[in-house]
Amino acid sequence: MNPAKSASLNFLRALPKAELHLHIEGTLEPELLFELARKHAITLPYPDVASLRRAYQFGSLQAFLDVYYQGVQVLRDADDFYALTQAYLAHARADGVIHVELFFDPQSHMERGIALTTVFAGLTRALDEARHETGLTYHLIPCFLRHLSAAAAMQTLEALLPFRALFVAVGLDSSERDHPPSKFTAVFERARAEGLLTVAHAGEEGPPEYIWQALDLLHVARIDHGVNCASDAALCQRLAATRVPLTVCPLSNVKLGVFPDMAAHNLKRLLDQRLCITLNADDPAYFGGYLLDNYAAAQDALGLTRNDMIQLARNSIEAAFLSDADKRPWLRKLELEGFPD
Ligand code: HPA
Ligand code: ZN
Repeated sequence: MNPAKSASLNFLRALPKAELHLHIEGTLEPELLFELARKHAITLPYPDVASLRRAYQFGSLQAFLDVYYQGVQVLRDADDFYALTQAYLAHARADGVIHVELFFDPQSHMERGIALTTVFAGLTRALDEARHETGLTYHLIPCFLRHLSAAAAMQTLEALLPFRALFVAVGLDSSERDHPPSKFTAVFERARAEGLLTVAHAGEEGPPEYIWQALDLLHVARIDHGVNCASDAALCQRLAATRVPLTVCPLSNVKLGVFPDMAAHNLKRLLDQRLCITLNADDPAYFGGYLLDNYAAAQDALGLTRNDMIQLARNSIEAAFLSDADKRPWLRKLELEGFPD
């Protein structure tokens, strides 16, 4: 690596960053996937790690989800969820992540007979260890699968409520097209009545209308992706005025064909319109990079300045579900003139 590049990476690494859009099942690297398949005597449709990696070419969200849901099948016991989370946390630490809000898909596990206790036990064991060892803080956000019914989401919420103390918000993910946020209005109303915050994937492949619905019907505190807001000026104005954050995932967007390449990504234009844009990794094992890779790829392709990068890190802290008191030290560290070279 040339010296300028390495200095720039050191700068990006040193920025305190919150990761707000990370599907833990999307951190399953092929090596661990094969190891867990061997452990549980599961036959995979790929002969080896290299051929599995070669299959990671996705023209659309659905093409990705088909491979992703297949991978999830190897996660069976609490030790598997622990190993998965521990492996992710090593990347988070190396990238300068100071807080993570981690998505998981309860329905992908419950439909295979895996108990929620098992999932929570594995995730929280790894996360609590990391918190003790490194100070990294976390929140959990279970997501409903939008390709399944609203009734199934409601049942899932009921099943989650005994674990209410372990998560702060609920989310909405999976196939966006033809599954508008409006389908889940009642479920999200129930979640909010339980004091939960809400987030939803919207405007990744879907139209701006889905972002309006997420705001007005689901009353979300953040939009996941949201990049398709750009074609609706009134929506952009609203997002800028309210500072409802968009958790943007640059490498994911390019891998799934939302933008033809990184140079075509609209995040710089949205940032310049004063939207609260944050950078995130989404499903790093599948999309070719963790958080620091996303920061570096966006900076390189879009000519983002150091101040832009500081602003993106600031936005990630502002957008986190942390108290003002917990945010303050990180924001102070990021004050523009105070940040060291
Ligand atoms: N979009 C929608 N659903 C998902 C994603 C995503 O990027 N990753 C995992 N589930
Ligand atoms: Zn996502």
